Amino acid sequence: MCGIVGYLGEKNAENTLLEGLKRLEYRGYDSAGIAIIKNGKVTSRKAVGKIVNLEKKINGKNMDAGIGISHTRWATHGKPTEENAHPHLSCDGNIAVVHNGIIENYQALREELKKKGHKFVSETDSEVLAHLIEEFYKNDFKRAVCEALKLVEGTYGIAVIAGDKPQEIIVARKGSPLVLGIGENENFVASDVAAILGYTKQVVYLNDGEIAKITKNNFEITDLDEKKIDSEISEIEWSLEESQKGGHDHFMLKEIMEQPKVIVDSTRGRLMPDEGTVRLGGLEAVEEKLRKIERIIILACGTARYAGLVGEYMMEEYAEIPVEVEFASEFRYRKPILDERTAVIAISQSGETADTLAAIREAKRKGALTLGIVNVVGSTIARETDAGVYNHAGPEIAVASTKAFTSQLIVLTLMTVLLGRQRKMSEVTGRRIIEEIEKLPKKIEKILGAKDDIKKLAKKYADYPNFMYLGRKYCFPLAEEGALKLKEISYIHSEGFAAGEMKHGSIALIDEDFPVFAIAPKDSVYEKNISNIEEIRARMGKIIILTTEGNKEAEKIADDVIYIPKTLEMLTPILGVVPLQLFAYYISCFRGLDVDKPRNLAKSVTVE
Ligand code: AGP
Repeated sequence: MCGIVGYLGEKNAENTLLEGLKRLEYRGYDSAGIAIIKNGKVTSRKAVGKIVNLEKKINGKNMDAGIGISHTRWATHGKPTEENAHPHLSCDGNIAVVHNGIIENYQALREELKKKGHKFVSETDSEVLAHLIEEFYKNDFKRAVCEALKLVEGTYGIAVIAGDKPQEIIVARKGSPLVLGIGENENFVASDVAAILGYTKQVVYLNDGEIAKITKNNFEITDLDEKKIDSEISEIEWSLEESQKGGHDHFMLKEIMEQPKVIVDSTRGRLMPDEGTVRLGGLEAVEEKLRKIERIIILACGTARYAGLVGEYMMEEYAEIPVEVEFASEFRYRKPILDERTAVIAISQSGETADTLAAIREAKRKGALTLGIVNVVGSTIARETDAGVYNHAGPEIAVASTKAFTSQLIVLTLMTVLLGRQRKMSEVTGRRIIEEIEKLPKKIEKILGAKDDIKKLAKKYADYPNFMYLGRKYCFPLAEEGALKLKEISYIHSEGFAAGEMKHGSIALIDEDFPVFAIAPKDSVYEKNISNIEEIRARMGKIIILTTEGNKEAEKIADDVIYIPKTLEMLTPILGVVPLQLFAYYISCFRGLDVDKPRNLAKSVTVE
């Protein structure tokens, strides 16, 4: 979604900001803009479409400024036009604002400001901020921003500059992430650490309700009443290389190929094979509370929710705790019944998904213990949950989530062992699960080694307009994840179903032009799966079966077969998802689409 980058220092601000914006491209956007201060005057430039369009506008007219703010916009209010692109300026052109989030009362504010003579040039909610700050600005710039924000309802992450204050950037946050990057004789602000990773690893995460004045050598954080707030400098663990493509054509392929390493990274130091259990440092403080919980609710969106559904099966089977998985976006609009014996687990790669964050806040208000399974260290969900486990999957840049999913499954497995061993799970069972986890990286490598076979298959199926994915038990959520992967990057209509449910309606869709991807490993529900596949065969549907190595029977009933190595039933989704990811990836490539940045989507969805 929208991205913010701000810079203040001795480098060329335009180049530094463009570089930062490019690192945020993966988040999804449809226009971009920049505002700098030179000789006490704000100059802004904007362009619709890719950042190269903005770069072209700046080329030859680079003013070599030392301060500036910039933005990539993902349209919410108003089309992607230059007028609607950020930064937005005040009437006198002295103030420039970039904004992430949504100003809910912007209509009322806009009307009032218009009455006072302010002229609006865009259809956005964000533009009111520039005029509101102008209205309050006498000579104390930060004060004016504070006063303006007090009138605003909704969410914001903002960066503001004023031409007559060329030594400072004011930034503020409520519900939309912002991080300060601390350098030598230079400072940065960004909505995502990826933007500043190439310049500094020292960061300060801003909390909701905080506002900061940044100068070249200093930063000062307060609340909106300008009461000082102490802050902590953290070190980013990710390297710049990790956030680049590393020789692959796309981030998505790079991230798929990284999965063997991700399993190692997300289990490092956490497995205790001798005792048949795991050590999760982030949960140690709440271990006693976890012993007493009687129910778990998992909250997440999209791919993270599918990981949660696998977690539900695992935790119920091995830890014997009732688990429910909820759409985070629905949770707070119901009347969730929670108490201190309920643990709520939020799963989120970015740690910034607005719906998941809102759901976890609601759960907290109702007295539940809140836990996070989060990849981005220091993100809002990671900070706001009572305790949690980091995925350690490294930066995931492609919009389609791949390695984050496998690492979420690993963390859920580790939590299952922890909770199970606190209850009835035997040491032998714990040890068996750990031994199998340790074998996963090699098994994933084997699947990745056969990626050209999946590429051939993708070529064969790339032109079908529809796809159905089927699975049972642990592989039912996998069917949904496979379908999501395909639809989001190839724009092919695809649906994932519980195999047994298909004959209650969806089977009506099947004909020779509607292929079915059946996930049928040799597990406890294999025979049931085969019956469903036969039903499809009887209706002339094309069938791809994903099954366990050595299962030659599959070749007799399917048009095509993909094999994965054998593992424990509960761990099968970790292997099974890899061919599904590759299949979707290659189909998107064959269709000539923008694999890493599919249309209409954003990497982290920071609005409701
Ligand atoms: C997955 O490929 C998606 N792009 C999307 O469903 C994603 O998993 C979802 O938006 C949740 O994001 P989060 O993990 O950052 O909270």
